[in-house]
Amino acid sequence: MRTQQVYFLFSLLLITITSAAGGLTPAKSQPLPGGYTPINNISDPHVIEVARFAVEEHNKQDDAHLLKFLRILKGWSQVVAGINYRLIIAAKPINCNGKVYHYEAIVYERPWQHFMNLTSFELIK
Ligand SMILES: *[C@@H]1O[C@H](CO)[C@@H](O)[C@H](O)[C@H]1NC(C)=O
Ligand SMILES: *[C@@H]1O[C@H](CO)[C@@H](O)[C@H](O)[C@H]1NC(C)=O
Repeated sequence: MRTQQVYFLFSLLLITITSAAGGLTPAKSQPLPGGYTPINNISDPHVIEVARFAVEEHNKQDDAHLLKFLRILKGWSQVVAGINYRLIIAAKPINCNGKVYHYEAIVYERPWQHFMNLTSFELIK
């Protein structure tokens, strides 16, 4: 009798703990909103397309400092209502002889609408 009560209390406790934990931690199968995760393959043609878009957009917005895209050095992505890409890009100003600079670009994409927007593009010092 006493043992059964202990078991009952213990299982109640377990249920409480698991439901509390379930309320606090997002389900494993869902993407974690708010977090950037590293892009494993920065040679992925779509990721390169995003980086090229970032440099082209930068060139449209700042035509006094035109850049030529060279390569992606590093990248992260974030699933929102769409995807944010954060890419470290090597590019060189087309009017200077050869010096390569690194830039951090953030591009927002809604793939199902073929929509991309350059959120920010900054020189890394
Ligand atoms: C990365 O993507 C490129 C282009 O799709 C592919 O050729 C290459 O094998 C991939 N590398 C890895 C490590 O998956
Ligand atoms: C693109 O991003 C910039 C910077 O965040 C923002 O000001 C602008 O409204 C965005 N444009 C569109 C069409 O969403």
